[in-house]
Amino acid sequence: MKIYRVAILGCRGRGTAAARAYHAHPRTEIVALCDLVEERRNTLGDEVGVSSRYADLDEMIKDTSPDIVAIPTGTEFHYDLCMQVLEHGVNIEVEKPMCIDLIQADDVIRKSEEKGVQVAVHHQGRVGSSMQAISKAYNEGKIGNLRYMYGSGKGYYGGYGLMNIGTHMLNNMLHFGKKCTSIAAHLTTGGKPISPEDVNPSPSGMGTIAGENITATLQYEGNVTGTLLQHRFKTMDTNAYTMELFGSEGRLFWKSAGAWFLPTPHYLPDGNNDKWESLDLLFPDHYDPNSSASQDDYWFVEEYVNALDEGREHTCSGKEGRHIIEMMMGIFESAAYGENVNLPQENRTHPLLRWRKENGLQPPNEMPRGYGEWLNLETKRITN
Ligand SMILES: NC(=O)c1ccc[n+]([C@@H]2O[C@H](COP(=O)([O-])OP(=O)(O)OC[C@H]3O[C@@H](n4cnc5c(N)ncnc54)[C@H](O)[C@@H]3O)[C@@H](O)[C@H]2O)c1
Repeated sequence: MKIYRVAILGCRGRGTAAARAYHAHPRTEIVALCDLVEERRNTLGDEVGVSSRYADLDEMIKDTSPDIVAIPTGTEFHYDLCMQVLEHGVNIEVEKPMCIDLIQADDVIRKSEEKGVQVAVHHQGRVGSSMQAISKAYNEGKIGNLRYMYGSGKGYYGGYGLMNIGTHMLNNMLHFGKKCTSIAAHLTTGGKPISPEDVNPSPSGMGTIAGENITATLQYEGNVTGTLLQHRFKTMDTNAYTMELFGSEGRLFWKSAGAWFLPTPHYLPDGNNDKWESLDLLFPDHYDPNSSASQDDYWFVEEYVNALDEGREHTCSGKEGRHIIEMMMGIFESAAYGENVNLPQENRTHPLLRWRKENGLQPPNEMPRGYGEWLNLETKRITN
């Protein structure tokens, strides 16, 4: 059985999580690490026992010929780094969100096709233990025909929540919805529909955003609809980060590290006898819960190994990642222009920047990158 050679580009929080999963998996070997900061590559190198450490990614790839390069860096660097790594003809995985607009995402897909390699986007929730449990129940027909889906964020400022957390939830919902064909969205800031002045640069380098509260209706193929909420809460609430599937015979409930089934269709209230049943979470046989690898990152690696073995794309492929960006841009566009947006959209430019330009405004001024500082400034602007 082939052992896949992996290089990690970026050795901080998410690079460490990725390295732990690739290190723990029996079919992958980390052959090199790269970071601009020596201390970070040394800390991670010592933890996972990798002595090939680089500051220059081209040098790393030339010297060590990896099969996969993981790109867990700040979102504003995803596009340039994906393009630079793909030039070497190597498979990649990039952290979510894949890129900050559709022009970038199209370029990345084009380059990967030109080089004959694959792109995976690190939406690990879609392949993690809860999703495996939900998918199994769904495929066994436990809820009959899917009719409706609901997904929520954790309470970040909506536009930022969409790019940061909504990307995961849209991907989870896409697992069942398969293809989103149109979007209608309502975005408010300070309790009013957004205006071009409400367009901001995102915290954490996630492009251009708008909307304190986002409510989006998604139409999928096959007469299934979904609602995505990304509402700003007074305090963050990770318990709200959930997805529910409503079918003709029952319901399924997803949460990070939790999965439930209710044998009552969505149009009936829960009777006294209707109890949510906890579903067994599923793990690969070789996953060691005592290892430092998180189960969903481990599943993500397992899926990459299987995809490469079978000559197919990762479930969280670049094309799925691009479709998520189509949905996120569609949500912004629908609210800005007050109309339904059909996907895939022909105009690939960022809809919020286009909207500002058409209203005689320049791109928005810079704002702090850190979320706390950003939110303080934006709260002042809204409440003034
Ligand atoms: N999937 C998830 O659950 C999840 C959770 C949190 C964050 N994220 C995503 O992860 C990304 C951020 O990851 P992070 O928090 O570890 O980022 P970070 O900025 O803390 O670390 C990135 C590291 O990459 C290095 N780096 C950047 N450019 C480089 C280059 N050209 N060459 C070599 N090294 C380079 C930096 O020096 C830094 O050490 C974001 O895209 C975010 O959305 C995903």
